[in-house]
Amino acid sequence: MVILGNWKMNMVVSNAIAFSKRLREIDIPEDVEIGVLPSYVYLSEVANILEGSRISVGAQDCYYEDQGAFTGEVSPLQLKDLGMKWCLVGHSERRQMFYETDEDTRRKVVSLMRHGINPVLCVGETLAQREAGRMFGIISSQLFRSLERLKLNDEFTIAYEPIWAIGTGITAKPKQVEEATSVIRQIAERMHRNTRFNVLYGGSVNEDNAKNLIINGVDGFLVGGASLSVIRFSKIIDSAR
Ligand code: PGA
Repeated sequence: MVILGNWKMNMVVSNAIAFSKRLREIDIPEDVEIGVLPSYVYLSEVANILEGSRISVGAQDCYYEDQGAFTGEVSPLQLKDLGMKWCLVGHSERRQMFYETDEDTRRKVVSLMRHGINPVLCVGETLAQREAGRMFGIISSQLFRSLERLKLNDEFTIAYEPIWAIGTGITAKPKQVEEATSVIRQIAERMHRNTRFNVLYGGSVNEDNAKNLIINGVDGFLVGGASLSVIRFSKIIDSAR
């Protein structure tokens, strides 16, 4: 299982340091891989504290060029330089608030893989799309546009993040998660026969619902709000035991 904590635009440096030091001490079940995704400005600090631990570090976004006149952007080359293992791509907040397109996500995936960083491609539908019966169509178009005709590695990580469940306190029901993750796996495997897909679920995962969401086809979680408390995050990690 892979459990990633997406800190989003939270914490200041003192919290990030204190949090990482406490996180280092928690007991992690065997076979569970943990990662945290702080803001760019704290990546180095957090990575230094977690060095040599079983917790890896990643970024929440990147740009796809290596370097150049792209004011405000951070490249996969720079993330690699900091030893980052993961990078989210196409998170719904990036898609909705910052107009990230499937073409952007595709380029980011290519660039991250070129630098040996694991992209975590986020896909998911809005409530209106789900209610209109368009969930499968939306997810498959996101997957096709981002991943078709790329050369993927042996393993690739996708996060199913229904937009209506992110930060809302509404968690998708296990049945809904099972259905969506199985569709994602089928589509992705059809496009890339030689790749093993890890499919994570994200959307209001917390210490109370995590256990019920460890179901067939879910290889881990992308946790937002509940990853900002060491106690809550470690309870989620414990539920994977
Ligand atoms: P949430 O966020 O757990 O706060 O819903 C999940 C995410 O956006 O990845």
